[in-house]
Amino acid sequence: MSTGAKNTVHGPAEIAHYLPPHYLESELRRDVLAGLTAEPKSLPPKWFYDDRGSKLFERIMELPEYYPTRAEREILERYAPDMAAASPAETLIELGSGSSSKTPRLISALQEEGRLQRYVAVDVSDGALLGAGDHLSETFPGLELSPVAADFERQLHVLPRNGHRMVAFLGGTIGNLEPEQRTALLEDIHDLLGPGGGSLLVGTDLIKPEEILVPAYDDSAGVTAEFNKNVLRVLNRELGADFDVDEFDHVAVWLPEKRRIEMRLRARKSMLVTLPGVDLQVLFAAGEELRTEISTKFSRDGIAVELEAAGFRVAGQWTDSQDRYAVTVAEAV
Ligand code: SAH
Ligand code: AVI
Repeated sequence: MSTGAKNTVHGPAEIAHYLPPHYLESELRRDVLAGLTAEPKSLPPKWFYDDRGSKLFERIMELPEYYPTRAEREILERYAPDMAAASPAETLIELGSGSSSKTPRLISALQEEGRLQRYVAVDVSDGALLGAGDHLSETFPGLELSPVAADFERQLHVLPRNGHRMVAFLGGTIGNLEPEQRTALLEDIHDLLGPGGGSLLVGTDLIKPEEILVPAYDDSAGVTAEFNKNVLRVLNRELGADFDVDEFDHVAVWLPEKRRIEMRLRARKSMLVTLPGVDLQVLFAAGEELRTEISTKFSRDGIAVELEAAGFRVAGQWTDSQDRYAVTVAEAV
């Protein structure tokens, strides 16, 4: 990795901090100013994940309605050896690694191939990186662990450029990006790897009936609603905003023409919100919606076509027993 990171020792692994100084303040301010003055209003989903948001996401992954985690885990349990054989990497880099809860299966399979030396976990959330580190160092004592606090949309250049690498992008997080952001990220990953330099392993949720999709984003226990509203708490804390969190309703809608779920927060009444940190006042009309996340669903061919357009050649694609979810491995050519 390039030098210049501020390292802090936390438990067994040392987090390399590459987020620019004042990242939270400057990037959050920029996103909030742009998003809350736009029509319709929106915010990027990465601001869900403060420590509380990361913990709420952990709970989402256990919900009966939220099938993607179980489906992806099933695929990795069954096919990780095939994925590792298709691309026996020396370094595993995981983007948006979160709690790294599904990664051990992949690490074990790559270790079986005999070349894996290092696991680089990349996330904007320090809390998530810290939680994952302890667990992984106990399970894989011989593996070099490199937790990296960085924004994968802006800072792929800090990641290792040597040896055969596998970039894992699990959880369906690629679906949280707008199509043009997705294209840009796939091209950046291709540039990072270079022709012959390794592969991308990407998990994607598949298109399915609305009756299954919507409850996955609007669970009966209300955990996803809390996760959604957490972004308002982040704005209240970081920007001194005065969102009345309880006056917003959680909304999850399936838009078939865009092949995506959108999460929104709908104002119960007309509200004037003040955000001193960005010197902004924003008026919400009663019933107005703030879009907080898109979660795109793919066809098996659709993701393959996008990977190929970015310079990859698909080496294999695997789905779970109910065809709900796909994991694709593609070589940079
Ligand atoms: N891959 C994990 C976690 C998915 S949750 C799993 O499958 O369980 C999405 C994760 O991506 C969160 O931990 C969040 O902090 C991280 N994330 C979102 N946007 C990011 C960005 N731009 N750069 C780095 N990490 C990001
Ligand atoms: C992280 N990401 C892939 C999740 C998703 O399914 O889009 C985030 C999430 N939002 C609501 N529930 C889960």
